[in-house]
Amino acid sequence: MANLNREEPRILGPIPGPLAAAWLERDLRVMSPSYTRTYPLVVRRARGAMIEDMDGNLFLDFTAGIAVTNAGHSHPKVVAAIRKQAGRLIHMSGTDFYYTPQVQLAERLAAIVPGPEPKRVFFTNSGAEAIEAALKLARRHTGRNRALAFINAFHGRTYGAMSLSGSKPLQRRGFSPLVPEIHHARYGDLDSVRALLKTICPPEELAAIFVEPIQGEGGYVVPPPDFLPGLRKLCDEHKVLLVFDEVQSGFGRTGKMFAEEHWGLAGDIICLAKGIANGLPLGAIVARASVMDWPSGSHASTFGGNPVACAAALASLDLIEQKYRANAVRRGDQMRKGLLAMADRYPFIHDVRGLGLMIGVEIRGTDGEPDPHLRDTIIELAFRRGLLLLPCGPSTIRFCPPLCLTGRQVEIGLGLVDAAMAAALAGMQAAREEREQAVARGGV
Ligand SMILES: Cc1ncc(COP(=O)(O)O)c(C=O)c1O
Repeated sequence: MANLNREEPRILGPIPGPLAAAWLERDLRVMSPSYTRTYPLVVRRARGAMIEDMDGNLFLDFTAGIAVTNAGHSHPKVVAAIRKQAGRLIHMSGTDFYYTPQVQLAERLAAIVPGPEPKRVFFTNSGAEAIEAALKLARRHTGRNRALAFINAFHGRTYGAMSLSGSKPLQRRGFSPLVPEIHHARYGDLDSVRALLKTICPPEELAAIFVEPIQGEGGYVVPPPDFLPGLRKLCDEHKVLLVFDEVQSGFGRTGKMFAEEHWGLAGDIICLAKGIANGLPLGAIVARASVMDWPSGSHASTFGGNPVACAAALASLDLIEQKYRANAVRRGDQMRKGLLAMADRYPFIHDVRGLGLMIGVEIRGTDGEPDPHLRDTIIELAFRRGLLLLPCGPSTIRFCPPLCLTGRQVEIGLGLVDAAMAAALAGMQAAREEREQAVARGGV
């Protein structure tokens, strides 16, 4: 087995190797074809920011399993907490019974989520379930039907979450009818919200505005400075609930515990998942206590707030608070600087943006238009060199590594991005020369 304590990737041969290839074949036969696999990585083990595949290849992970393992893969303290809790109690259902890790985690979350009012917590198993819970709570609390969300937003795949999302036609195609009375405005554009309130969305019928403080799947988009404060003001004016979807941006990812803190804001409801339990399935909504006023039996979940997941979350929170949130600021600055320096050399880098270790690099073609093919080529070339990246938005490369990343790992990762981009540029030049030669020969 490979040494997962090293900081450099190590590629032993063609990927997938023979063991991974056999698993890919088995997967192809039985798994749903709806998944969106980016490249043929079959993971055997992981530690910190390093991943080992089935054939002993070592990768540097700039994905954290889609912004989830914020304290690093299999952090020993999280593993110890999981082991200890699993030995005591794995399940009893927080819906019908009481157990201590759930109360402890609720107390921690209620204390750290922004806003002066006391809070209450409802636990779920995923981000989409947190969104569903927030939508149900918002409707029930306000007695209003409508909700407003944004173009390019992503809130999940269940019916309420899918109806709030405004991301890709493929995510909706064939699934109608969706949840009615949901409107979409342009992200970052307060006028487009005001226009909806003046035309087709009477504000007195609007229960909640759902917004990602930084759009995630939409392309790691940081909104203009006045946007989120403006939404807060509009919500207060019309007694509409502001729901922050911090499923991807929460738990130190942006250098603050929650991204809304960059604007000094507090939502009425906050949706959490991904980074909460360092990889165990858990989500939550945290709401002002006066908002979470639904009666017993109106919403519940068998598994949500499972004791093992809560124990993992408590251990992971300690680590994020003690060191990894601050590390995200330092390593994020280092990574952004390195990527910005590359923008001078690679004409296809249109933008480098983001906060902390939630960074997007937008790729555009020579015509200035988003170039998803080129973006995917760069990600593939990086993978072949041992660096794991993911796409987001129409043509953005997403950088969301574990927050425990070292300075050396940032350097190594940047070197691999540079090499992948250099290879992509060389490929583009070679293709152009070939076309020119064909034209000169009177071909195309
Ligand atoms: C902002 C945001 N909200 C909600 C979700 C849905 O979370 P899950 O996949 O856990 O259902 C995601 C997932 O990517 C997300 O990024």
